[in-house]
This record gives sequence, C-alpha cells and structure tokens, in this order.
Amino acid sequence: IQDVEKSSDDELQQLLHTLPREEAWISGSLYLYQGFWCSSLVLKSVLSFQKHFQAFDSDVMVATFPKCGTTWLKALTFSTLYRSQFSRGGIEHPSLTSTPHQLVRQLEYDVYMNNPCPDLDNICVYKPRLFGTHVPYASLPTSIKESKCKIVYICRNPMDMFISLWSFTGKLRDENQESLSLGQAFDKFCRGILTHGPFFDHVLEYWNASQENPDKVLFLKYEDLKEDINSQLKHLAMFLGVPFTEDEEKRGVVEEIATICSFDKLKEVEVNKKGLHISGIPHKDFFRKGKVGDWSNYLTPSMVERLEKLIHEKLDSSGLTF
Ligand code: A3P
Repeated sequence: IQDVEKSSDDELQQLLHTLPREEAWISGSLYLYQGFWCSSLVLKSVLSFQKHFQAFDSDVMVATFPKCGTTWLKALTFSTLYRSQFSRGGIEHPSLTSTPHQLVRQLEYDVYMNNPCPDLDNICVYKPRLFGTHVPYASLPTSIKESKCKIVYICRNPMDMFISLWSFTGKLRDENQESLSLGQAFDKFCRGILTHGPFFDHVLEYWNASQENPDKVLFLKYEDLKEDINSQLKHLAMFLGVPFTEDEEKRGVVEEIATICSFDKLKEVEVNKKGLHISGIPHKDFFRKGKVGDWSNYLTPSMVERLEKLIHEKLDSSGLTF
C-alpha cells in the first residue's frame, strides 16, 4: 500500500502542475480535471477511485451534485433497497443509529480519501453494494459505465442548490476566515467554478445518460420528490429491481420509508444532530431548511435574471426543465 500511495502522490503532483487552477470558495485551490473542478485532496481520491474501483453488475450508485439532495436520496435508496433485510427479526431501522452518509459511503470523499485500495465488500454491510459519488458521469470509472450497475441521480433547481451550497460553505469557514459574499459566490457558480462544477455539465451528463439508457440511470428531481414522495419511491423501487409488493403497499411500507427519510424526521434523529461527518463537517449541517424555493429569500432580481438566462442557454435543447 505504501508503494501505491507513493506513486499516486507523484502522479498527483505531476498532474496538478498541468491543470487550470482557481481560488476555491473557502480556502486553497480548485483544479480543473477532466472538465470538472475539485481540490487536490479530492482529486487524489478521484484518481484512486478511477484506477482501482471495479463495479459489480449488482452495484448501485447514488450519484448527485452536492446540495441537490444527496442525504435524502441516500436514506431513501438505502431504506428501499435493503428493506427486506432489516425488517426481518425486528432490527431497528439503521437510519435511527447511523447517518445517511454513514449508511451509504461517499467514494471520493470518504472511501478512497485515505486508502487507495479499500476493502469495498467489507465497507458495505448490506448487499448488493451501495455507494455515493459526486463524480461527473464522464469521469466515472469505466467499469461503472460498462457494467450493468445502476445509477440513481438527483438534481435540484440550480437557484436552491446554490443557496444551499452558499449557506453550507459559510458554516465550513473558520472564524478568522473572511466570508465569501453572496455576489462573489454567485459569480463563481455562474462561471462553473465550484467543487464538481460546472453544475449544468454535471446535470446534463447524467440527464443524457438517463435518456440513452433509462434502465441504467434513473434521473430524479428534488422538487418531484417533495411533491409526491410516494410515487417517486415506487418508481425508485421498480428501477432498483425491488418493486413494492401489493402486500407491502397495503401495509403502508412506502409511507413508512417516506416518513423515516423525511427532513423533519431525519433532522431530529439523535445521530444526525451531533458528531462530525468523516470530512469534519457536523452532521447537523446536512439538514438546513429542506424547502423548495428558498432562493427567493436571497437572490436579487439581477442574479435571478443572469441565472435564468444561463438555464435557458444550457438546458433549452436538452428537454430538461426545472
Ligand atoms: P437546504 O440547504 O436548501 O435546506 P445534500 O444532501 O446534497 O448535501 O443537500 C443538502 C440539502 O438537502 C439541504 O437543503 C438539506 O436541508 C436538504 N435535505 C437534507 N435531508 C433532507 C431530507 N430528508 N428531505 C429533504 N431535504 C433534505
């Protein structure tokens, strides 16, 4: 492992010198690798992920752009996929004792961050294996794209996503670090300079993949889940190959999962209120308001105008709307 680490560090240093660089939102730099921005720390991990990850046909990936509903989708996918495994024998629902990010580990932030060759089978207590990633579709390891493994993706209105990210990064700053103003952050967002950005490229790659191969990529929207969680959950279960049976529907299993994973419920679970995520971020910071349309409390008319123009420019020919 030491040899692997040494060669990956050398590889990283050589690579960093060749990549376009911009100031990150908080501190340090973001590098443009394969068309997306990330820190050197994340890049190191992405390189290991790309090099060593071998997908199984049975794997499931929760793929998201940050702040689009990763936490929620992890809880929903976990609870749906494994429901028969922990409903037997009266086992307490794992969401009551672990955070969604502990239940579905994030490959490039968590699993590969300190270990280039992690024991993935051991990491996933339940089977089939279930992982999370923010890596854009084009940069996923080839075996994910070429195998039959399934990808569930969630996107969100860019205005809400941006406000969520700006609020989140504000909390990540040290007291002595100057805060990035809303205007500065907005300008970076519109120019695509944010971790895993540009946002529109990320969303469109997964959108196009879902259009080309709907059995492989399920494209969900945060707003649709908010509007009708039960039918979205049924859709998710069907896609994962574990449709709800008539009996389950009668017993209210769909509603039960929706409730357990709801914002109000998860936010109040003790494990989500205290302690730190592996990245050092307090678990509670993954739960802010959980609302649609909060952007209207923050964005100025000229910001809205700029972003609407961008949305048209980027999405009009794709068939994707927000
Ligand atoms: P807000 O900041 O708008 O409240 P991610 O999980 O990708 O980091 O996204 C975080 C956003 O999802 C935050 O949005 C957070 O409040 C919201 N969120 C977290 N858990 C949720 C849940 N169970 N249902 C709905 N929204 C949730």
